[in-house]
Amino acid sequence: MDLLTAMQTMNACRYYKSDTVDDAVLAKALNAARWAATGSNKQPVSFIAVRDAAKRQALHDLYQPIWDMAMQKYSSGEFKSGFSTKFLGHVDHFARHLSEVPVHIVVCAEWQSLSAIDANLGRTVLTPGSSIYPAVQNLMLAARAEGLGTTLTTLLALAEPQIKTLLNIPEHIATAAVVMLGWPAKPFPKSLKRKPLTEAAYLDSYGAPLPGAEMYV
Ligand SMILES: Cc1cc2nc3c(=O)[nH]c(=O)nc-3n(C[C@H](O)[C@H](O)[C@H](O)COP(=O)(O)O)c2cc1C
Repeated sequence: MDLLTAMQTMNACRYYKSDTVDDAVLAKALNAARWAATGSNKQPVSFIAVRDAAKRQALHDLYQPIWDMAMQKYSSGEFKSGFSTKFLGHVDHFARHLSEVPVHIVVCAEWQSLSAIDANLGRTVLTPGSSIYPAVQNLMLAARAEGLGTTLTTLLALAEPQIKTLLNIPEHIATAAVVMLGWPAKPFPKSLKRKPLTEAAYLDSYGAPLPGAEMYV
């Protein structure tokens, strides 16, 4: 599979088969992650692949109430999202079957190695994640190339203390995401829905048209 096809079809997979993912395939996807760039090549990221059924159930039990609260706020309109009822149904199904996804990959990061050089700009801090999420994307793209589905989740950040206890994660390590991974129960999309390039890339000045962008819708 060529790289662009993997990128264009790597959806958030919310329906999984219960089939096991072989050790070799899992290791191959995780191997792709370690080639990602990190600031000063500090390589602060590591992964815990959770296969143990009781631990996956524990992660599910932590995820479910967080999702239920979010779902309630989306449904009541308190969270303005524009999500359709159908879409929320898919996300809700995913939450309710989380423990059945064969591999939960907890993304760990040595948080003291992460620089927040934009911490004093009076807005949401963006830069610490820049040494973490390229590795996560590598993992997910490599999984896609193997025919595996993945979903990146961050809701479990709210349960970091409990996850650290569950998985014996030391003090100096934070959790950055949990990637669900398994064989998809539905076909991959032909192409993801994304805004056109004219709205995502500019030339020389914010908002100024990039020549050739109109080709990519
Ligand atoms: C930072 C981040 C956090 C996400 N958290 C969740 C999550 O907690 N639960 C979930 O079902 N999907 C989660 N997603 C998946 C997004 O909802 C999904 O990528 C987005 O809707 C686009 O879907 P598509 O790639 O299938 O088009 C997350 C994605 C990202 C990038």
